[in-house]
Amino acid sequence: MRSLLTIKRYYCKAMKNSCGSDFIFDTNIYSGLNPKILHDYWQIFWTQKQLHQKSFFYSKEFWRSYFQSELNSGRPLQYIVNQAPFFKSEFYVDERVLIPRPETEILVELVAKSCVNGQYQKIAEVGVGSGAPLISLLQEWGPQNAVKIWGTDLSVDALEVTKINLAQKKYLFDQSMVEVNLSKGDRGEDLPDGLDLIYSNPPYVMSIDRLSRQVRDFEPKMSLLVPEEVSYLDWFKVFFKRVCSKLRPGGEFWMEGEYDQWDSLSQILNQAGFNQMTIHKDLTQKERFINAFKHE
Ligand SMILES: C[S@@+](CC[C@H](N)C(=O)[O-])C[C@H]1O[C@@H](n2cnc3c(N)ncnc32)[C@H](O)[C@@H]1O
Repeated sequence: MRSLLTIKRYYCKAMKNSCGSDFIFDTNIYSGLNPKILHDYWQIFWTQKQLHQKSFFYSKEFWRSYFQSELNSGRPLQYIVNQAPFFKSEFYVDERVLIPRPETEILVELVAKSCVNGQYQKIAEVGVGSGAPLISLLQEWGPQNAVKIWGTDLSVDALEVTKINLAQKKYLFDQSMVEVNLSKGDRGEDLPDGLDLIYSNPPYVMSIDRLSRQVRDFEPKMSLLVPEEVSYLDWFKVFFKRVCSKLRPGGEFWMEGEYDQWDSLSQILNQAGFNQMTIHKDLTQKERFINAFKHE
């Protein structure tokens, strides 16, 4: 394990040297590292050991060529260094989760404002992924009263990553005020009833053709696309009904979604029992978020 730490240290240092970026190294990362990535690191370690070229192993050239080949393969930089900047912090990521996106930072801001205004005590995120939005929401909102927050995801692998980030980033919010519960479930089925607010950045890309090669080849499909066997709108029909059933009357829903689908999605939201819908734009002026309330 110590060798792995050494590898990672040099890895980050080389990254810093070659790109001039400032990557934070955190040894806790190893507590839940993806076995596939561990295996990759061992492979590098043993290959170098067999070559008996210790100096090469530690050299900048080695790391430069290693990075070059990783980047040439198309692997996103965030997966290579196991870190992604999001909102006001850096989060652990690997191939088990979507790399958190800048537009979701706006969702966090919008939801945080609602939480401050609404004095909510029971909140949930459906499709929690890396946990970066959930942790950032707690950081931004800074609840002053006791609150419970649920993070749910269909992917057990993703929930493992949420746990890593919650363990590493617990200093970002006041733990004495917040109880976080994580659970596995399909579109929020596992959530308790009577929630004040639910938000989500679900898989919403309309078709695989809309994805760049880098995203398609490396990020988890279930983070991006609804399952092939169901129609796009049918998937959201079930989702919205479920979410509505978990909210208290007057409860609030926020979702990030495909900018050209709101006509159909807002109709489905209405049929599921929501009203007072408003659409919000992202920084590229695309209609990216919807806010709705469950009928009183
Ligand atoms: C677009 S990613 C969002 C991840 C994270 N919240 C973020 O914004 O970075 C969608 C997440 O939904 C999860 N997901 C996919 N299908 C789901 C389902 N049927 N029920 C619950 N979660 C699901 C994926 O595993 C993934 O973590």
